[in-house]
Amino acid sequence: MRTILMTFTLASLVATAGLAADIKAGQAIYDKSCKSCHGADGTPNAAVAKMKKVEMRDLKSAEVQAMSNDDLKKVITEGMGKMTPAKTITGASLDNLVAYVHSFKK
Ligand code: HEC
Repeated sequence: MRTILMTFTLASLVATAGLAADIKAGQAIYDKSCKSCHGADGTPNAAVAKMKKVEMRDLKSAEVQAMSNDDLKKVITEGMGKMTPAKTITGASLDNLVAYVHSFKK
């Protein structure tokens, strides 16, 4: 009986922890999928901006930081202007990635 209760408590704990976005996991995704264009810390890659002929916002800027999680997810999965969408990032990975972008501060 006690074992069953323990198992149940542990499972709930793990489930709760799973809800919190994992910034470290988000960083791994960012480094792999975003860094080449948006820099290690959100500073836009000037060569990419020039090649795409677009003014890229610094991801640390107040404008980008003011975007909600949902707004960021939309840009990432649907693209925006000259930004190509990253359609393969979904679910928890997307949550973690957005949490990591929101951790950028100027
Ligand atoms: C191939 C280069 C490239 C990659 C890879 C890329 N982006 Fe972008 N991103 C851009 C460009 C260019 C823009 C500006 C689009 C425009 O204004 O037309 C942009 C815009 C954005 C914006 C909106 C900023 C604003 O100006 O309001 C966000 C947020 C963003 N990218 C996040 C990401 C994230 C997160 C990833 C990784 C999944 C990523 N991007 C991958 C090129 C890229």
